[in-house]
Amino acid sequence: MQFTEQDFIITSPIKKISVPAEINISAPSNIALVKYWGKHGLQLPMNPSVSFTLNKSRTHTIVRLTALDKTGENLRFKFFLNEKYQPDFEPKIAGFFKRIKIYAPFINAYHWEIYSHNTFPHSSGIASSASGFAALAKIIIELEKQLYTQQTAEYYNKKVSFLARLGSGSAARSTAHPVMIWGQHPQIDNTSDLYAIVPDFELHPVFKNFRDSIVLVEKEQKKVSSTAGHNLMHNHPFKNIRKKQAFDHTLQMSEYLKTGDLKKFIKLTEAEALELHALMMTSNPNYILMQPDTLKIIHLIREIRNRTDLPVCFTLDAGANVHILYPGNISTELETRLFKKINFEIIHDFV
Ligand code: DP6
Repeated sequence: MQFTEQDFIITSPIKKISVPAEINISAPSNIALVKYWGKHGLQLPMNPSVSFTLNKSRTHTIVRLTALDKTGENLRFKFFLNEKYQPDFEPKIAGFFKRIKIYAPFINAYHWEIYSHNTFPHSSGIASSASGFAALAKIIIELEKQLYTQQTAEYYNKKVSFLARLGSGSAARSTAHPVMIWGQHPQIDNTSDLYAIVPDFELHPVFKNFRDSIVLVEKEQKKVSSTAGHNLMHNHPFKNIRKKQAFDHTLQMSEYLKTGDLKKFIKLTEAEALELHALMMTSNPNYILMQPDTLKIIHLIREIRNRTDLPVCFTLDAGANVHILYPGNISTELETRLFKKINFEIIHDFV
């Protein structure tokens, strides 16, 4: 079933929760196979994207709520990351709460103390915004469940993703396992620009024990934010070509995830990663996020694959880190052939 924005708007709650209350939740990170790059309106994607949800890299969030005498115009909150008060993060979170107010009007009746910690090091260059906003969206839906009459599981699943999207686009895909598709695609049922869905096909067994080993080539904050990168797509000379590619790739990727065609999966995954960075290198202004070591690792992966036929490939997000994707049954072999040769910290995650 398709939901509209209207379906997610709610009015006054029918119940009250006993405060002070505490909600404790976690949400996973995800890695895109077909990339979301370019957006319009209120966090609507230029094209559909497909991702694997990761299991180990997560954000754990605890929210402590206390009742306010009067519901305010803006949400009153404090944000702590890894036990430290982080006012720098508050403008982005405040923007999120503002955007979602009509879909969750009850939030402003409380003061929020938000305590988050990531299972991956904060300075690892791994995006924490996807898992971070997905965790906040889950908390809001937990509250909605307590305050309003029961809705269907489908409504809650889609609304979690819908709210998460309003914090950060890729967060829309951090709300369910193991694969999510975000963005309307005419040939894929139930897809929407408003939220991500779990596709209705069965993921082929070859992907069920899939790994993502993340090589931390660069641990600092990204030099160009994803939001700035998305904006450069508006006047990008290859905008229309990219759009067409991403629609085609989403359909093809869905097919390979269903049939388990690893050779085609590898070819397409790497093509998407390189295309994303090619778009950055051809925007105006252009920029390069890959580092010499990113390329060295890419060459090493390709050289090992050509020599041994092992089904290993790479993808990249908007940074210099390399995500190495492979089936779990070749992990021991890759340890000696590949990981031992890489002189950076590696986070071994799985789908
Ligand atoms: C390259 O979701 O971080 O990782 O919506 O502005 O918060 P905002 O951007 P963000 O962009 C992620 C871009 C990407 C590709 C992807 O995850 O699909």
